[in-house]
Amino acid sequence: MTAPRLYVDSADVDRVGRLLGAGVVHGVTTNPTILERSGRTAEDIPALYERWVGQGAREVFFQTWGGDTASFLRNAEGILALGDRVAVKVPATADGFAAASALVRDGASVLVTAVYSVGQALACASIGVQYIAPYLGRLRDAGVDGDALIARMQAACEGSATDVLAASLRSPEDIVGLREAGVPYFTAAPDVIEQLLFHDVSDSSAAEFDAAMARLGG
Ligand code: E4P
Repeated sequence: MTAPRLYVDSADVDRVGRLLGAGVVHGVTTNPTILERSGRTAEDIPALYERWVGQGAREVFFQTWGGDTASFLRNAEGILALGDRVAVKVPATADGFAAASALVRDGASVLVTAVYSVGQALACASIGVQYIAPYLGRLRDAGVDGDALIARMQAACEGSATDVLAASLRSPEDIVGLREAGVPYFTAAPDVIEQLLFHDVSDSSAAEFDAAMARLGG
């Protein structure tokens, strides 16, 4: 099984910076909604890329936009010019699939996002995109058994160059459950990543060790 990786799904520079500084996330994923929520504009993208790479991000994802294939490709060009740690996200629409295919042929690192069916996952694997992002929380919101569906997507991608990078993960258990189905990569809000790292007994154990060391004169 591929080694797991955590990404932080946020453009909150303080919280992203702390997680990158701690070395607990592989990189940063964003989309236009996330940028807007943090009060960012399209003009901020180059500075965010530089900042996060400088803080140790091994991969940074920005999403292309425009709705039609030509616009997706034009905007992806600007994103890909940022540097060699960038990956471009493309939505799983008909025009998005055409853009993703062209970008893969050009050697870009591509993530197809908002993947909602096994058929779309299979098409992504056939095209050779590097990642697909299904949205667990939003699938559940729509009344779908997201865990089962994403497990089938994972199976559909087996043996291909495509990996599942699951998104819309709202609790540490969402991550652990998908991992048990073989999903390798996960992106989640800073809160969820922080909760994944935390256990109250770990903290009380650490406090006990420190108290003992203090008694030992340390
Ligand atoms: C992914 O690109 C989305 O930003 C994200 O995972 C959605 O999460 P939410 O459904 O919890 O808002």
